Amino acid sequence: MEGGWPAGGGFLLYLTVSLLLPGKGDTFTINCSGFDQHGVDPAAFQSVFDRKAFRPVVNNSIPTRVNISFTLSAILEVNAQLQLLTSFLWMNLMWDNAFISWNPEECVSIDQLTVSAENLWLPDVFIVESMDVDGAPPGLTAIVSSEGRMKYDRPVRVTSICNLDIFYFPFDQQNCTFTFSSFLHTVDSILLGMDKEVWEITDTSRNLIQTQGEWELLGINKATPKMWVGSNLYDQIMFYVAIRRRPSLYIINLLVPSGFLVAIDALSFYLPAESENRAPFKITLLLGYNVFLLMMNDLLPATGTPLISVYFALCLSLMVISLLETIFITHLLHMATTQPPPMPWWLHSLLLNCTSPWKCCSAAPGKGNKGLGLTHLHGVKEPVELVGKMPGPREAELNGCPGSPRTHLVNLWVQFSHMMDTLLFRLYLLFMATFIITVIVLWNT
Ligand SMILES: *[C@@H]1O[C@H](CO)[C@@H](O)[C@H](O)[C@H]1NC(C)=O
Ligand SMILES: *[C@@H]1O[C@H](CO)[C@@H](O)[C@H](O)[C@H]1NC(C)=O
Ligand SMILES: *[C@@H]1O[C@H](CO)[C@@H](O)[C@H](O)[C@H]1NC(C)=O
Ligand SMILES: *[C@@H]1O[C@H](CO)[C@@H](O)[C@H](O)[C@H]1NC(C)=O
Repeated sequence: MEGGWPAGGGFLLYLTVSLLLPGKGDTFTINCSGFDQHGVDPAAFQSVFDRKAFRPVVNNSIPTRVNISFTLSAILEVNAQLQLLTSFLWMNLMWDNAFISWNPEECVSIDQLTVSAENLWLPDVFIVESMDVDGAPPGLTAIVSSEGRMKYDRPVRVTSICNLDIFYFPFDQQNCTFTFSSFLHTVDSILLGMDKEVWEITDTSRNLIQTQGEWELLGINKATPKMWVGSNLYDQIMFYVAIRRRPSLYIINLLVPSGFLVAIDALSFYLPAESENRAPFKITLLLGYNVFLLMMNDLLPATGTPLISVYFALCLSLMVISLLETIFITHLLHMATTQPPPMPWWLHSLLLNCTSPWKCCSAAPGKGNKGLGLTHLHGVKEPVELVGKMPGPREAELNGCPGSPRTHLVNLWVQFSHMMDTLLFRLYLLFMATFIITVIVLWNT
């Protein structure tokens, strides 16, 4: 019993001290006895509002834990030139305010209240990548629970810097980062935590983004590295937001028309080489393609060299090459029919080895475009079939070919032109196939 006295005296002393000294224990309990008669009494919260300039903790060496989460509600714009992503976030912050607490039983069962946010201390959590002033609307409120847990939600339009790689445009994916961090407080005063799991954030965001805009949300990941700035350690949470472009607009407006033009260009090789139409036709195509490129320039990213630009450049060069080929063949045919130069012996024997006398006759100039065009078409097969047959010039004469040496020479040159045309056409097709396959393979990786 003797030893009990000092303990009891200590308890009494503690009670006296705690009643006298402010800032300890029950002093922060809000007296809400009159709330049911006159609404919330501002005087009851006055002491809390007066302290809004300070971090709401009793012991200043205990950090405030701020739980954050967000919902991505819209992806507004991705600007490849400025490397900016504009999006809309609903940011949720939760923390404990040690200055607020009340007993709901005394307070007509009120267990939470909304308080205008400008009267409260707010954590200065912001997005590091943001390149814009915070555009939150004024006059937001926070929800306060009877244990002093604050819940503060606000919408933010974030224009954040993001390293955009448009090489695979329009089949590109981007990985943008939102780093939440306190502007001023180090780990000693603010710690960041998560309010929800990251998959919950992803799911709600995905459900919320109703817009069928250009970008689609793929997923959100998070990492929580702390950041040293000088000797200060800051807590931060990084969210990696992966988004993908919906390519259908670009496929329909860019790739399909361009592919059609190149296909027509390839098919125009089947216009007979003697026809006057082939070169003008190809020039028209080339002109059309240039107009198409001019019109579609707005759809392309303004910076960098995406693969699609290389594709367009290659399509254009294919058309130019095919026009050059037509010019070459036309020149060859013109030379053959007006003043055929003497033919080198190796070319002569090569031609005789590879062509049949029948073709030699039907390919005679003046016989009409249709026949020549057909010869040209079938010319693809014949050299293979006739290898080893080796019809000589005598045989050709026996078969009824005109005997004059000049006509013979003209025929041979015309023959040679057609062979060159076929050969170059095949090279062209080979080049085109290689390039298309390369581009497709690159786009798929
Ligand atoms: C609360 O305030 C009322 C007057 O507004 C007062 O009568 C009551 O004693 C106070 N209660 C406490 C626990 O301080
Ligand atoms: C404040 O908290 C620190 C660490 O938890 C503790 O060492 C210190 O005694 C506390 N101060 C008071 C006045 O309670
Ligand atoms: C923050 O989240 C952690 C775990 O998710 C939880 O234990 C803690 O109470 C939360 N704090 C606040 C202020 O919401
Ligand atoms: C985004 O980039 C970060 C690192 O920069 C990486 O850890 C993360 O896995 C990437 N996310 C996706 C979906 O590629």
